Amino acid sequence: MARLGGKPVFVDIDPETLNMDVNDAVKRISSKTVGIIPVHLFIQTADMRAIMELAQQYNLKVLEDSAEAWGMECFVYGQWKKAGTIGHIGIFSFFPTKTLGAYGDAGLMVTYDEELYKKIKSYRVHGSTVKYFHDYIGYNSRLDTIQAAILRVKLKNINNSIAMRKKHAMHYIERLKHIPQIKFPKILECNKEVYYVFNLLVPQRDKLALYLKDKGIGTSIYYPMPLHLQKCFSYLGYKEGDFPVAERICKEIIALPMYPELTDDEVDYVCDVIEQFYR
Ligand SMILES: Cc1ncc(COP(=O)(O)O)c(C=O)c1O
Repeated sequence: MARLGGKPVFVDIDPETLNMDVNDAVKRISSKTVGIIPVHLFIQTADMRAIMELAQQYNLKVLEDSAEAWGMECFVYGQWKKAGTIGHIGIFSFFPTKTLGAYGDAGLMVTYDEELYKKIKSYRVHGSTVKYFHDYIGYNSRLDTIQAAILRVKLKNINNSIAMRKKHAMHYIERLKHIPQIKFPKILECNKEVYYVFNLLVPQRDKLALYLKDKGIGTSIYYPMPLHLQKCFSYLGYKEGDFPVAERICKEIIALPMYPELTDDEVDYVCDVIEQFYR
């Protein structure tokens, strides 16, 4: 969007769900706003009911960043809908770490809009609709056949993978919920979650990460720096303090190991070490 000359306007996040704060989004809509890009982060979709209402009210397009959201669902328009199928376009990432991950880079876009579908397909292959005839200046964005083959195999087992992730998440929560320093992100009632990652919000986050590393446990920080403070967006003129919730969460969040093949013993070991740290 920024590459096409659009000006990104950032929105703060909700401190409980860690997704877009729709009340903040409302305040940032102007006559120049053309669309909303909700990012379905970590375990659940953004509040799509509120976002779709807003889009209708202001006649905006909605592009769902569902890169992390394979399998997530949201109750909207009176039914459960899959992440990525609610707005005008949904995008998915099959980066190897994703819930449905290829063995290299891969992705997918979905839409119900026939015109957009044709355009997207064309942009995918250098803006060509008929071989060697180019209507647009497009991209080389084809899905490699080898990645497609791998994804077809993994797709058969995806529901089981998602169930295993949930089992590990419940195990973590059961073991860690008594530690008063630890907060878990809140899941909205209108969402069916998928544990793409398992995040905690904690004090002394960096110390905990080092402590876990020392005991052979890897963690990740999603994300160390919010978008408005990234160098690539410095031209927008944002400064520290502009999005206080996102800034605070960047300092408190830590992701524990989460993948279907984790064993119960491994989850117990991670929890034992976290207990030791806060004791
Ligand atoms: C929320 C979100 N959006 C976009 C992306 C980018 O996906 P890709 O690396 O497949 O282009 C990612 C991947 O990490 C992501 O998590």
